[in-house]
Amino acid sequence: MATNSSDLPKTRSVTSNLDELFLGNVYDATVVRRLLSYVYVYRSTFFVALIGVIFYIAAVVAQPLIIAWGIDGFIAPDPGETRWGNLRTVSLIFLFDVLVMGISQYIQFRALARLSTRLLFDLRRDMFNHLQGQSATFFERNEVGRLMSRVQNDVLALQEFTEISVPTLADILMLAVIAVTLFVTDFNLALVAVGPIPLMVITMAIWQRKAKPTFLRIRTAISSVNGNLQEGITGVRVTQSMNRQNRNLRKFDTLNTEHRDAAIKGGFLSGMLMPPIEVISMASVALVVVVGGQQVLNGTLELGILTAFILYLLRFFEPIRAMTMQFTQFQKAMASGARIFELLDIEPDLVDAPDAKQMPPINGKIEFKNVSFEYVPGLPVLNDISLTIEPGESVAFVGLTGAGKTTLVSLVQRLYDVTSGQVLIDGVDVRSVTRASLAGQMSSVLQEPFLYSEAVSANIKFNHVNVSEKSVINSATAVGAHDFISKLPTGYSSILEQRGANLSMGQRALVSMARAIVADPRILILDEATANMDSETEYQLQEALKEVLHGRTSLLIAHRLSTITSADKIVVLEHGKIVEVGKHEQLIANKSVYSKLYAMNFGEPIR
Ligand SMILES: Nc1ncnc2c1ncn2[C@@H]1O[C@H](COP(=O)(O)OP(=O)(O)OP(=O)(O)O)[C@@H](O)[C@H]1O
Ligand SMILES: [Mg+2]
Repeated sequence: MATNSSDLPKTRSVTSNLDELFLGNVYDATVVRRLLSYVYVYRSTFFVALIGVIFYIAAVVAQPLIIAWGIDGFIAPDPGETRWGNLRTVSLIFLFDVLVMGISQYIQFRALARLSTRLLFDLRRDMFNHLQGQSATFFERNEVGRLMSRVQNDVLALQEFTEISVPTLADILMLAVIAVTLFVTDFNLALVAVGPIPLMVITMAIWQRKAKPTFLRIRTAISSVNGNLQEGITGVRVTQSMNRQNRNLRKFDTLNTEHRDAAIKGGFLSGMLMPPIEVISMASVALVVVVGGQQVLNGTLELGILTAFILYLLRFFEPIRAMTMQFTQFQKAMASGARIFELLDIEPDLVDAPDAKQMPPINGKIEFKNVSFEYVPGLPVLNDISLTIEPGESVAFVGLTGAGKTTLVSLVQRLYDVTSGQVLIDGVDVRSVTRASLAGQMSSVLQEPFLYSEAVSANIKFNHVNVSEKSVINSATAVGAHDFISKLPTGYSSILEQRGANLSMGQRALVSMARAIVADPRILILDEATANMDSETEYQLQEALKEVLHGRTSLLIAHRLSTITSADKIVVLEHGKIVEVGKHEQLIANKSVYSKLYAMNFGEPIR
């Protein structure tokens, strides 16, 4: 049934474009919590990264202290008589410290790379699987582009976030440790050193406010460029045949120019931030040199401590700068995370009942009992359909376009649930058995054949991987596809390019027809399977079908196929209602709806 629960929530956005407009907070507790549940699986790796971080910070913070120790202990007291031995010890300790720093940084990066790649893997897998479990309704309502962007871009943004999050945490920790060290070493000098920080914070806040619209503009522009690019490439055949390239290029140019201009402005803004921050941090260093230098001259401060102070300060402003640059990345990641988890939280609206059983081997009886169906609540597409199809019968559904033929047969496969009434197979309600056990026993060839970019034989075997090559060839022969497949460069092992782009539409239909019968299904559904074939191929197929349909329950939808005329039963649909049921001759003799349709649509002579 069509419910709104299968929609991606549209409160924030209506289209994918607007989706991009949504800039989240820098910190979104829900997203971080959900993300942590993914990290939890790899907690040991995370722990390793954390240990790396701690050792790294300890090593970095120790450096100025070691230098101060060297200066105050062995250089400053008696410059004339340098105590080489002691200084050498200091140097060795310093070297050791640097080694610890390097190794811990390596460990940290390695662990983080492992963690974030696995996270990405898990998230993509979950999303793919989650999407596969959604109903047909879901995909009708959500654009492919939007879904793709979530699985690709949003996951990537979240991965980047994971990668920078630990270094940022490390930065914050380092900031705190350095600040504490500064104040413990010399409280007054520390006050002088952090004096310019409020100025820095104000500068960054102003910059953020000014820059935000521009970064938003860049993202909107790039998503328009990408959208246009995708459309342009997908529709290139139509474009070329209608000679619309120039117009498309002009449109692309407009969007691309907008992106370029926004990006230039963004670059300009990024360039604007660094100099003031740099000046302020260096001003802070200069202040410390002046005030601290005075103290050294007065003899109230040791030279080594001053040196350590300056080194700390240089380190101190580094994380601040880094975090400024990562600000927008954080925002983006939080927005992406929110979108990802939003998608993962959508409950599939067609699920197996909790007590669903396996469908027993199908005999082939199909019953529609007072079936009504609506895609959109309040707009009935099928109206009180009751019909019984005996095992082995072939039934043709005819009716004008939009009459509800495709909808009716898709209820047999339970692509949708009925709005009211029941669909029974061998007396079993399709909702009471698992979808897998049901789908495994029937096959369909749909209005638009879908082939995978795999070998022809793999396309015919499809999910029945254990089917023998012989059966593959038999099926292809039965539907009349063997000849053209044999003529392909490497026959059955030829790879289909771009989902079958190297085959004609009719050939694609034949391959999917072979696929439909390869596992010998009890129920076969052919929806306009012959729509793209020339009359010659169709005629051959029709001959083959007599054999193929024999002994199976088959539901046929066709506008032209003359197989209709030999169907056991013809069901005429009009506006979602059954208006006539009977055999061809009967219905023609009645001179009613079918005979008119026949005259209009299937006006070919009966062969
Ligand atoms: N996914 C959908 N969401 C909403 N309405 C739909 C959807 N699919 C079909 N419809 C509507 O349901 C009605 C029946 O469509 P259906 O595809 O069953 O017709 P059909 O008889 O197979 O037509 P055709 O001969 O053109 O294939 C149409 O009015 C159509 O607009
Ligand atoms: Mg149809």
